[in-house]
Amino acid sequence: MYLYQSNNEYYGQISDGLEDLGRKELAWLGISQMTPEHRGFRFKADHASLYRANYKSRLFTRILAPLVSFPCHDEKKLYDMARNINWSDFIQETGSFAVFANISDSKINNSHFASLKVKDAIVDQFRDKTGVRPNVDTKFPDVWFNLHIRENKAVISLDTSGGSLHRRGYRRKTVDAPMQETLAAAIIQMTEWDGDETPLYDPMCGSGTLLCEALMYCCNIPAGYLRNDFGFTRLPDFDNALWQDIRNKSRKQIRKIPEQLISGSDISPQAVSAALANINKLPGGKVVDIMKTPFENIGNLQNTLIVCNPPYGIRLDKGKDMGPFYKKLGDFLKCNCQGSTAYIYFGDREYIKKVGLKAESKIPMKNGGLDGRLVKYVMY
Ligand SMILES: C[S@@+](CC[C@H](N)C(=O)[O-])C[C@H]1O[C@@H](n2cnc3c(N)ncnc32)[C@H](O)[C@@H]1O
Repeated sequence: MYLYQSNNEYYGQISDGLEDLGRKELAWLGISQMTPEHRGFRFKADHASLYRANYKSRLFTRILAPLVSFPCHDEKKLYDMARNINWSDFIQETGSFAVFANISDSKINNSHFASLKVKDAIVDQFRDKTGVRPNVDTKFPDVWFNLHIRENKAVISLDTSGGSLHRRGYRRKTVDAPMQETLAAAIIQMTEWDGDETPLYDPMCGSGTLLCEALMYCCNIPAGYLRNDFGFTRLPDFDNALWQDIRNKSRKQIRKIPEQLISGSDISPQAVSAALANINKLPGGKVVDIMKTPFENIGNLQNTLIVCNPPYGIRLDKGKDMGPFYKKLGDFLKCNCQGSTAYIYFGDREYIKKVGLKAESKIPMKNGGLDGRLVKYVMY
């Protein structure tokens, strides 16, 4: 019996700063027993809740099913314990797999080397039993395994998500500095948007991540709607009938998007074409208007929820002083957006003061290594 089968416990990984929303999301998914842990939550779930969490979570990056856990001070122990797992429960000898490791505060301190030890144990076991071994594929493996060692305690898990859940499947085209999907989803939730009456507009939509996440949120589209594969289908106790039932029921809850509820624009024709290609992958995407225009020419955006992440000036336009740009954005909000609320994500906090508007709140949020802030402005 594997560890997750004996205690029904899983580990959900979430980005720094999203823990409060993550706790609420687990409760929304029907999961009540949870314990905060390093970079995530340990939680109890039955099969249905596990499948639902993987299909519907907008914020978690991956959900791991622990297989074994043991004290681990050296590579020999790691190899021996990994060798004891019956790997053919999860992979076929003709299949492929990848092992990812995170290690901290332990005698074994090289995560690459440690993941190779587990890989060797898997390959050697298959070779000895069958003479054939599965391939290692670190991009698109059939099964993802995770090795976690912290304070000399090792846990080997199967990634029930099958690769990071931020890969929704709609991002076919991209632009420079796209926002991570889980962060965009968190921003939409933080705005407390009604998703029904107040129009939402992104005036610098780039590849349309905020628009796609807004559409998925307001129409109840499961975050995994476009994903074809999940790691939990590789668990030995996978219940396909239950999974199909959960998927079908979730799809039936998708609702039509009200006309003119979501729209956006960008100055770049490439960004507009990417955003249209991406949002059109989603049900209702064709109803979302996306125009090519600089924000300065949009006209009035009154009584609207405005969300956007302007160019950072760090990765894009390196070295360029973006101060005048942010001042213009502040003037636009002040003069054209009465009755609206704006949530602006600043990758570079230096520019917050250039906007020249009183911030109602500033929430720390990381995006791909940037220690940014989500700033709320209310225009009366
Ligand atoms: C950081 S990117 C936005 C990324 C987007 N959230 C995504 O996930 O792909 C900033 C965007 O602002 C756009 N932009 C820059 N100046 C603009 C302007 N004056 N008016 C409208 N869009 C502008 C850029 O073309 C770029 O697509």
